[in-house]
Amino acid sequence: MEQSFVEHDRDGDIHILRIANPPVNTLRTGVRAGLHEGIAAALKEGARAIVLIGAGRMFSAGAEMTEFNKPRQPPSLPEVFDAIENSRVPVVAAIHGSALGGGLELALACHARVASPTAQLGLPEVKRGFVPGAGGTQRLPRLIGGETALKMIVSGEPVKAAEALKLGFIDAVVEGPLEQAAVAWARENAGRSFTLARKRDDKIRGADMAAFDAAAAGLLKRSRGQESPKGCAAAVRAAMTMPFEEGLNVEREQFQRLVSGEQSHALRHIFFGERETARIPGMPEGTQPLPVKKAVVIGAGTMGGGIAMSFANNGIPVTVLEQAQDALDRGLKKCEANWERSVSGGKLSQEDYAKRRALLSGSTDWNVVKEADIVIEAVFEDMGVKKQVFAKLDELARPGIVLASNTSTLDIDAIASATKRPEFVVGMHFFSPANVMKLLEIVRGKASSWEAIATAMDVGKRIGKVNVVVGNCDGFVGNRMTGKRGFQLERLLLEGALPQDIDRVMEGYGMAMGPCATGDLAGLDIGAAVRKARGTTAPIADAIVAAGRYGQKTGKGWYVYDEKRQRQPDPEVEKLITEMSEKHQVKRRKIEDSEILERMLLPMVNEGARILEEGIASRAIDIDVIFANGFGWPAWRGGPMFWADRMGMKAVRDKLAHYAETTNDPNLKPAALIEKLAAEGGSFSAMGQKKAA
Ligand code: NAI
Repeated sequence: MEQSFVEHDRDGDIHILRIANPPVNTLRTGVRAGLHEGIAAALKEGARAIVLIGAGRMFSAGAEMTEFNKPRQPPSLPEVFDAIENSRVPVVAAIHGSALGGGLELALACHARVASPTAQLGLPEVKRGFVPGAGGTQRLPRLIGGETALKMIVSGEPVKAAEALKLGFIDAVVEGPLEQAAVAWARENAGRSFTLARKRDDKIRGADMAAFDAAAAGLLKRSRGQESPKGCAAAVRAAMTMPFEEGLNVEREQFQRLVSGEQSHALRHIFFGERETARIPGMPEGTQPLPVKKAVVIGAGTMGGGIAMSFANNGIPVTVLEQAQDALDRGLKKCEANWERSVSGGKLSQEDYAKRRALLSGSTDWNVVKEADIVIEAVFEDMGVKKQVFAKLDELARPGIVLASNTSTLDIDAIASATKRPEFVVGMHFFSPANVMKLLEIVRGKASSWEAIATAMDVGKRIGKVNVVVGNCDGFVGNRMTGKRGFQLERLLLEGALPQDIDRVMEGYGMAMGPCATGDLAGLDIGAAVRKARGTTAPIADAIVAAGRYGQKTGKGWYVYDEKRQRQPDPEVEKLITEMSEKHQVKRRKIEDSEILERMLLPMVNEGARILEEGIASRAIDIDVIFANGFGWPAWRGGPMFWADRMGMKAVRDKLAHYAETTNDPNLKPAALIEKLAAEGGSFSAMGQKKAA
């Protein structure tokens, strides 16, 4: 029998059951058993009411997902909930920090719920690829109505206490120390009669199911190939149309089917991966980040503005430094316009906008650098300019602060060499739009100290990013891997595919946007300029640019765009591509979707393997986390390395060797690591585990 992780206290005749399973009070077996026994003991001792509360940071983050793959130990959550619902005295959940997933379901089974003003409540199961599995889809609709519940369950996003009160799934927001306030609330209300969520039907009886179905269809449109939102909709629909117990059965079927499925596996791979990437192999234990209270961003262009917004959005004062007043004004205006869009879209309150705006300032005076605790440079991508800027930073910045570059291609060591403190220079590579994209590649130069890396990671976390530490090389990890697709894209077009075929396959796979549409959005001239600078060519893409087709900004690129920026395949592009095939004497053929997919993904996997060989990324999971957070890769596919592992390393090797030969692309010759893993029967993810062990 596992030890109990629940403390039992008494305040007169009000009993307190405190979940104490740090750090996030997951509902592991010892918690479930402790609650089950605690309720029985409290009733036996004549409690007038029972308060359930979490010790430490929060109420509960939910189920213990590491127990999913093991035989289930009793009592189950539903058994604990039965004990609560059968209690003859009210059980009151007292929520602070977070009540998520199974944690919120536990609270929903109680007779009443009170919360601290800062508490967050949500059902994030959909993001792990399954549905709430302990009655959440049945109790929440009974408390707040089907449509509202479905919206919350399908989004997976938590709501704050005030919103929960307004929606009607908590009973009070209480100020002051929560335990005392909750005990007082329970004492005052113990004599009231409470209707359990499962017994309520006022919010669902006679609901307009046609309206519900229409709302559900609208919500599901956004989730593309992902299965769990559909499961959520089916379970909530059951809540609206079936007796409670039958609805629970529908929920359980959905849960069991989804939790053992491929998508949930992939989503949990990314979820745990994002925690794994926070641990850096080799970083000495106890390495402390430097304190950062104020940031300076150099350059108020596309990236600088977004980076500055990330600081202001997360409560850190930030100054943007520009070379001229007009550029500065333009940059600040863009930030304001961005925030104003969020306000008019109802995503940001006027008050929060004002707070954020007040944290952002601009200057053209280099002396602001003297005040900075961290500097992030986002000026033109030009080594000469970058070196000038870093020499100046070296002169002005306090000693011992991190100087970071947002360069996407340049050598961090060369940039660091412009200073006398290369140990404090790192790369902080954000992705566009920087105020939205979660990914932050933190580039470790050869001189970067652990302290500097720890500081960059701490800052990244504070501004809401998912950090991945990478080595210094051209393109780092993400761009280096996607860069390898270009040759195959050209080959596919030459052999018979059209842009719309490639995008259809990639979007069918779940990408937010196919590579051709993405190119049109970013501007095809940019890629062409990069190729020119590097002395490489891409005959079809170059011809498209030569025809003045730069993408959306010129109204046409791989596609032609209407005034609503909707893309259409363009016969002119088809003509240009077919002529190119003729010119190169390539007989066009129909290319299967599976071949398109493999030829888009395998070059990336192969480059990923080289990145691992070189130690540019420490683990395969780091690569998958990069793609799930910065490249519109669907998290429910688990990332490119996960995809390769599922295919099996022998198949990966054989297919690469086959395409290397048939497409004459030496890049596709299987990387040594892939050869080795194929020979050993290994996989990318198992490699990571061996290292971690
Ligand atoms: P941008 O051209 O939009 O902005 C650069 C800004 O820096 C301009 O406003 C310019 O006036 C200012 N600037 C130039 N020299 C300066 C100096 N000496 N002092 C102060 N300000 C100066 O460029 P963007 O796109 O923002 O790129 C900036 C950096 O971010 C580059 O290194 C780029 O490679 C990198 N990057 C760009 C991404 C993108 O998607 N645009 C993605 C990730 C990184």
